[in-house]
Amino acid sequence: MSGLISELKGRRVAVLAGGPSCEREISLISGKGVLEALASRGIDAFLLDPDPAGDFLGELSRKNVAIAFIALHGTFGEDGTVQRLLEKSGIPYTGSGPAASEKGFDKAAAQTIFKEAKLSIPGFEILRSSEAIVSARSFSFPCVVKPSRAGSSVGISILQSPDHFQAAVREAFRYSDTVLIEEHIMGRELTVGILGDEPLPVVEIKVQRKFYDYDAKYKDTGTRYEAPARLTPEQTEKVQKTALAAYEALGCEVMGRVDVILDRKDKPYILELNTIPGLTGKSLLPKAARVAGIEFASLCVRIIELSLERVRAWSDR
Ligand SMILES: Nc1ncnc2c1ncn2[C@@H]1O[C@H](COP(=O)(O)OP(=O)(O)O)[C@@H](O)[C@H]1O
Ligand SMILES: [Mg+2]
Repeated sequence: MSGLISELKGRRVAVLAGGPSCEREISLISGKGVLEALASRGIDAFLLDPDPAGDFLGELSRKNVAIAFIALHGTFGEDGTVQRLLEKSGIPYTGSGPAASEKGFDKAAAQTIFKEAKLSIPGFEILRSSEAIVSARSFSFPCVVKPSRAGSSVGISILQSPDHFQAAVREAFRYSDTVLIEEHIMGRELTVGILGDEPLPVVEIKVQRKFYDYDAKYKDTGTRYEAPARLTPEQTEKVQKTALAAYEALGCEVMGRVDVILDRKDKPYILELNTIPGLTGKSLLPKAARVAGIEFASLCVRIIELSLERVRAWSDR
C-alpha cells in the first residue's frame, strides 16, 4: 500500500459522494465506506458532496487533490457528466471515462450496442416519449418495464399480463425520458464484478420477492447472496465471458459490474452494466472481490491504482 501513498506525493483523495440523483442516500453510504477504507490504509482522503450548480471543481483544485474517487450513483455521477467536467479541469478520477459511463447508464443505448455486438440480451423495445400511444397489445407478457436512465430498480415493473401496463409505463417515465419494454427472462439472477479487465467470481442473488427490487436490495427482506455462486466451471466461464464482452463493448475501464440472468438452458442474458457499482461493505462488487481475496480497503486502493494507470496511459499518448 505504501506504493500508492508515495505515488500520491502528499496530495489528497477526494471521495465524491451524495450528489443530486435519487440514489443519493446509497451513494453517501458508499462514500463513507470508501473514506474509512482509505483512511485505514493511511491515505489522506475527505468526503465531498458535489453540487452541480456549486464550485466543487474549484474546491478540488484548492484542496490539492491527486484524484477524485467517484462514489456517486445515478444521474450526474454515473452518466458521464462529472467525468467530463473533471476531465476538462484536468483532475484525475476513478473508473470509466465519459463515453463509457454515458452508455452504461443509458440502458437503451447499452442494449442497442450489445445487440450490435451480437451479445445475448433479452428482446427489447424502446419508448421515447410518454406521449406516444403504446398499446399493450404490441408486447408479449410477462415483460419488464424499466426506465432507461435510472438505477437501484426504481421505476421498474414486472408485468405478468397487460393489466396495469399503462400505469407501469407512466411510472417508468417519471424517472427517465426513455423507457424499455423487455422480454422477461426466467432463471438464476447473477452478477459479475470486473476489476481491471478481469472478471471476479460470480455472485448469485436469491430474492424472497418477485424480483430484485429496491427493498430487496437495501432493506432486510431476506435476500441471500451466494458468493461464489454455485455454478459448474462451464457455467461460470460462460457467464464471465459474456460479462467481459459487455464491458468491452461499452469501452469500460477500471471496474464495472454486469447483471446477468442465466436461463434454464444455461444461456446468460445481459440485463445491464453498472460503471459505478455500489461500494458499501455489503455491496455486490465488494462481495465478489472478497471471494477473490481482495478485502474492501484493498479494493478501494486497487481502484485508485488502476485509475492512475489509466490516466498515465492517456498522458503518454
Ligand atoms: N429482462 C428481465 N428479466 C427478468 N428480470 C429482470 C429483467 N430486467 C430486470 N429484471 C429484474 O429487475 C432488477 C433490476 O433491473 P436492472 O436492469 O438490473 O436495473 P437496475 O439498474 O435498476 O439495477 C434485476 O436485478 C432483475 O431482478
Ligand atoms: Mg441492476
